[in-house]
Amino acid sequence: MRPNEITMTREDAHYQPLIEAALNARQNAHAPYSRYAVGAAALTREGAIFAGCNVENASYGLSICAERNAIFQAVAAGARHIQMVLVVTEDGGSPCGACRQVIQEFADDPASLMVLMMNAQGEITARALSELLPYPFALER
Ligand code: THU
Repeated sequence: MRPNEITMTREDAHYQPLIEAALNARQNAHAPYSRYAVGAAALTREGAIFAGCNVENASYGLSICAERNAIFQAVAAGARHIQMVLVVTEDGGSPCGACRQVIQEFADDPASLMVLMMNAQGEITARALSELLPYPFALER
């Protein structure tokens, strides 16, 4: 286990609704090219959950990750404050850099926004967004 890493299993996680939402979305992943199905669920400040899956395209570069799909579902519904993101993959992979930046956009406090990564065995690793993306891009305004 690396420093700052929190691990738990699906059984002792308190996040069952988030897990169920991400697992359900993963069932709908459209990943015929990579065969790497991803499900994600975002928890908002108001307690709502929005889920997404990866959606690939024959023109590969048009594909969208599950995490961005989930965040965009939240935004489309009017949510602007993301408190937690769970991503489910076969191997417990962590969100890509682009998705980290998109999560950052809607994070009130990146140090307390936890990103949970769950593998097919139900093992969960959690990291703060600020650890995953220590120097996010921001526009000077
Ligand atoms: N993918 C995600 O959905 N989330 C990630 O964090 C990394 C990668 C998708 C993109 C593509 O459909 C497949 O996984 C393989 O890269």
